[in-house]
Amino acid sequence: MPSSTSTRTQVGIIGAGPAGLFLSHLLHREGIDSIVIENRSRTYAEERVRAGLLEQNTVDLMHELGLGDRLNKVGLTHHGVNLRFAGRTHRIDFNELAGGKAVTIYAQHEVVKDLTAARLDSGAPIHFEVANTAVHDFGDVSRSSRPRIQFELNGEQHAVACDFIAGCDGFHGIARPSIGASALKIYDREYPFGWLGILAEAPPSSEELIYAYHDRGFALLSMRSAQISRLYIQCKPDEDISLWPDAKIWDELHIRLAAENWKLTEGRILQKGVTGMRSFLVEPMQYGNLFLAGDAAHIVPPTGAKGMNLAVTDVQFLARALAHFYKTGRRNLLDSYSQTCLRRVWKVQRFSWWMTSMLHRFATDNAFDHRRQLAELDYLTTSRAASQTLAENYVGLPLEV
Ligand code: FAD
Ligand code: PHB
Repeated sequence: MPSSTSTRTQVGIIGAGPAGLFLSHLLHREGIDSIVIENRSRTYAEERVRAGLLEQNTVDLMHELGLGDRLNKVGLTHHGVNLRFAGRTHRIDFNELAGGKAVTIYAQHEVVKDLTAARLDSGAPIHFEVANTAVHDFGDVSRSSRPRIQFELNGEQHAVACDFIAGCDGFHGIARPSIGASALKIYDREYPFGWLGILAEAPPSSEELIYAYHDRGFALLSMRSAQISRLYIQCKPDEDISLWPDAKIWDELHIRLAAENWKLTEGRILQKGVTGMRSFLVEPMQYGNLFLAGDAAHIVPPTGAKGMNLAVTDVQFLARALAHFYKTGRRNLLDSYSQTCLRRVWKVQRFSWWMTSMLHRFATDNAFDHRRQLAELDYLTTSRAASQTLAENYVGLPLEV
């Protein structure tokens, strides 16, 4: 029989991704105690290559929490973004169209490193490499309710009694399925394509991102630093990466990103992978004293660069509701958590779907659809109103929408 340990905290957080870590810091700032558990190792969580673009709100929050030092040093602030199609490149200028807000290139795993180090330095726990996480007794919201998280760590059983549980455990986590399908409404759309992404030792060929629409499919030029490029091409959702030797990837990128008087710089490919794309959302994002945040509750296709930023705004709402509860004893903000989040989440879902639909080739589309997409891009880049719509969504809608 393995030995067992029981502890207590105010908020039990499952997952040490952006949602779980930001929540732990926001709660700490309010004097609320939490534990964080994570089923991967610290090294794995800190090296996983994922998002790279932070909205202004995410950057501001890092600074507010006193975690912006490295971001300040190595983050790349962009005041515009490029759309490339039909041989044209058009820049959307955030200074002119988004009230001076900007986006910043800073890898998600760097955010995770900063937040992890700061939490551990403050003496607060993150338990890595836990197994068999389970949640219990979270459905009842009466004062006597005692939600519990159970997990194994180093062969020992742990039980954590909490006031509230935050399911920040991503799309494949256990929190959402623990609620039970009958209590949730699922909205889901899979796209008939994916992204083949590479990280390359090559100075970015553009100072700002380029989203390219091409007859052969979408391509994106992004970056991680002045030395490292991050590039993506639209591919089949189940594309076999072994059929893509490095030279073939570069050839395809050259074709899809081509423009007059512009050259794509190649370099050694450090990492490559294929990601499927979907839009997914559950309603409500809460059940009793269990609250879902980030990818545990919703997935957006990456074309709008919104996934991580959405995880951050969810936990800003959740932290605010929890702080209000501990200060006043009132559950009103907790009760409306899902409704508050979803109002914004649906708008971001719409934007991510729209960017995806406008910029990718769909196998079922005909010549009409192709011309319609070009007309949309033409309109978007010649109408100030349309450009402004893109700009204000891209830099991030206000928290309260
Ligand atoms: P996650 O980061 O998935 O974190 C969940 C954590 O929970 C993980 O560490 C996981 O190991 C842990 N966990 C899971 N199950 C358990 C369990 N049972 N017990 C304990 N722990 C558990 N977003 C952007 O904003 N901008 C971008 O530019 C962008 N680009 C992207 C590009 C790609 C190719 C991909 C794949 C995604 C991109 N995203 C982007 C999306 C972004 O990476 C996610 O939305 C973000 O990681 C969500 O954060 P999260 O904390 O909700 O979930
Ligand atoms: C990235 O840099 O990884 C990135 C940037 C913008 C996106 C998606 C991914 O829309």
